[in-house]
Amino acid sequence: MTETGTGDAQAFYGRWMRLYDLLAHRTPGIAALRRRAVEACRLEPGDTVVEMGCGTGANLPVLRSAVGPEGTVVGIDFTAPVLERARDLTERYDNVHVVRGDATTPPVSEPIDAVLATFVVGMLSDPAGAVEDWSRLVESGGHVVLVNAARSQRWYGPPVNAIFRAITVLSTPPTTKLRYETEPTRRLDERINQAHTALRENADAVAHETHALGVVRLTGGRIG
Ligand SMILES: C[S@@+](CC[C@H](N)C(=O)[O-])C[C@H]1O[C@@H](n2cnc3c(N)ncnc32)[C@H](O)[C@@H]1O
Repeated sequence: MTETGTGDAQAFYGRWMRLYDLLAHRTPGIAALRRRAVEACRLEPGDTVVEMGCGTGANLPVLRSAVGPEGTVVGIDFTAPVLERARDLTERYDNVHVVRGDATTPPVSEPIDAVLATFVVGMLSDPAGAVEDWSRLVESGGHVVLVNAARSQRWYGPPVNAIFRAITVLSTPPTTKLRYETEPTRRLDERINQAHTALRENADAVAHETHALGVVRLTGGRIG
């Protein structure tokens, strides 16, 4: 089940696609973070990986490098304009496929080796359920990797979190419920915690790390 403001989210990402694309590629540290997320997928040449909510496709070339010309990369997103950008970015690869679909009911029928979702689960109304479903798509020994931004738990968290709150308000689709929560980051934190907890519970080995002053959480789980 997706967020109640699904149409609003698509309109928002469609309207702000160019700005979002710039941030997705140019935010300081983001390229290294994307490489780290793909490393956590532990892909081998020839593997198949699905990215849920791929947006403008910033992870897709990195995933393609990891699986090589024999592998398969599928990016799924429900917002048409961002997918066009992702298609342009990956058109030189015949084994990268960009598909319009809902990440909570992904059009995946073949067994896959990994699922990656970066900055997506905070937009889902049932993030834990989505992670459980994604874990079922992955073959035994495969990986599910989540990257998300949430409030920092570190001692210097308050000023960092004030900036994070402003960014959250500005970057959340304006008519979704999340935007109008009294404390918008609280609901986002809850969703992210639910998703990362579900991954830990569904995995038989877990790697967890934080980046960007504790704001970014990366959890990778091996599915038994
Ligand atoms: C913050 S962007 C992140 C994009 C990309 N993963 C990245 O790291 O740059 C969130 C993306 O998730 C997509 N999205 C949100 N909910 C979705 C759903 N239920 N199904 C498919 N795409 C979804 C949005 O359209 C948007 O492109």
